Amino acid sequence: MRIPLIAGNWKMNKTIGEALELAKALHYGLQYPEATKLEIVVAPPYTVLNKVAEFLKDSFIGVSAQDLFWEDSGAFTGAISAPMIKDAGAEYVIIGHSERRQLFNETDASVNKKIKAALKASLIPIFCVGETLQEREAGKVNAVIGTQFSGGLESLTTEDMAKMVIAYEPVWAIGTGKTATPEQAEEVHSMIRKMLVEKFGQTTADIVRVLYGGSVKPSNSKELLSQPNIDGALVGGASLKAEDFVGIIKNAI
Ligand code: PGA
Repeated sequence: MRIPLIAGNWKMNKTIGEALELAKALHYGLQYPEATKLEIVVAPPYTVLNKVAEFLKDSFIGVSAQDLFWEDSGAFTGAISAPMIKDAGAEYVIIGHSERRQLFNETDASVNKKIKAALKASLIPIFCVGETLQEREAGKVNAVIGTQFSGGLESLTTEDMAKMVIAYEPVWAIGTGKTATPEQAEEVHSMIRKMLVEKFGQTTADIVRVLYGGSVKPSNSKELLSQPNIDGALVGGASLKAEDFVGIIKNAI
């Protein structure tokens, strides 16, 4: 039985004051019963990671970073390492988000190094995959996801995989208001589940959560989350407003 995970990716948004306000609204807007049925995580930017983590320390809302660099420390100006993220109070880290891939030249090889660095520091990687519209229209969804999957997860053990979360985020659905239909999403999610079975075995494939991301909002989340292989959501825009994020969480129960 996979416990659904709803993660909010705040991206490059929220000053310190705004972030604390949102964290407070989520904390007080959610009730204990929700916490027992699913897992909730927020991913604030680095500048507020520690403050949000401190505030949410005794709550049932977990904290994630949005990226990391694979070295532990040293002369890497501007970079943040896995041990630093752990020290700031986060338990998760998003790796390989399509915005990192597109805007910051992230490759499957760098994603793989980052996943290994996260696991070494006992952070849970939320590993993102997804195709562009052009790739979908060219009938390359399976090939693209397959390459990202095998490159990102290269030389990981079954034990490593069992600790991770995967997020399928079609690039054409991110921040565009266009959501994959529940059927379109389920098709890719079940393919990812098959890839997990082939590479890591049935037991591991049965426990790894595969989240859907891309314009998830309260009005479409219920149908998406009711698909058998969709185990939660990675929410961008709608995670910036407490009311919307709480709405998505309530729909997941
Ligand atoms: P969106 O972003 O919900 O704003 O489409 C999702 C994501 O990028 O994780």
